[in-house]
Amino acid sequence: MALNPKISDWRGKTAWLVGASTGIGAAFAQALHAAGAQVAVTARSADKLHAFAAQHPGAIALPADVADPAALRDAWRQLVARTGGVDFVLFCAGTYSPLRADAFDLASATAQLNINYLGALNLLDAVLPQLLTQCSSGRGAHLSFVSSVAGYRGLPLALAYGPSKAALINLAEVLYLDLQTKGLGVSVVNPGFVATPLTAQNTFTMPALQTPEQAARAMLEGYAAGEFEIHFPKRFTRLVKALRWLPARAYFRLVRKGTGL
Ligand SMILES: NC(=O)c1ccc[n+]([C@@H]2O[C@H](COP(=O)([O-])OP(=O)(O)OC[C@H]3O[C@@H](n4cnc5c(N)ncnc54)[C@H](OP(=O)(O)O)[C@@H]3O)[C@@H](O)[C@H]2O)c1
Repeated sequence: MALNPKISDWRGKTAWLVGASTGIGAAFAQALHAAGAQVAVTARSADKLHAFAAQHPGAIALPADVADPAALRDAWRQLVARTGGVDFVLFCAGTYSPLRADAFDLASATAQLNINYLGALNLLDAVLPQLLTQCSSGRGAHLSFVSSVAGYRGLPLALAYGPSKAALINLAEVLYLDLQTKGLGVSVVNPGFVATPLTAQNTFTMPALQTPEQAARAMLEGYAAGEFEIHFPKRFTRLVKALRWLPARAYFRLVRKGTGL
């Protein structure tokens, strides 16, 4: 049985996508709009959001920084006032800067945690009261978080990114336990490599690299199947998942050999 109510018909649904100015979030915004949803997009780049809204009838641009709880609350209030309720919320904001212990940089580590994890808490603070009220009056909703397979186990260069994504996966599991019985679906999206501004800085060959449009399609399929964890591309993510079962000694040896780091 599916872990969440299946979402396959997006017509008439309202979705708030946070972190949707570029990359996966922007591609998913396009896909949802094409599927018939009313889409509201948030990120810091107001110009990109307004361009999206201008090109997609009914779309709403709500610029905000996820590190600013008051700005998120304000964006949410505006959205609810305009639409009367929201059926789907996606936290897709994220940042990545390579970081290793021999060049530890507290400012970089804190900045990554602030956006990738604390940003999700700021979002929860904004949306939970209204979503719970909405659910108790019979209009269910869905909360989804884009994390990463980099959150499964420790990886080189991911000193800040990895722990922030591990925390997000754990958070989604706790939220599922707390909210699913109240009519609020919860899911986590764990992509492999996707060609976006975030990965453009990578100097290595990224295995099983996908386009943002492929990522958006995989997400739509995951929501339609009512999955809790949506991961893609399977040929890559299944392999990374299998590494979770290795004892630490074997895991460390394999990662050192595989990455050369
Ligand atoms: N690409 C991959 O291979 C990959 C793999 C696994 C997971 N992911 C995750 O997927 C998500 C999307 O990343 P992407 O690859 O699509 O990269 P991206 O194109 O750089 O998108 C990141 C999005 O987050 C927004 N954002 C960043 N900081 C923000 C802030 N402080 N407040 C509000 N919005 C903020 C960005 O918009 P502004 O800069 O305009 O604010 C942008 O819309 C991230 O969580 C990333 O960790 C990506």
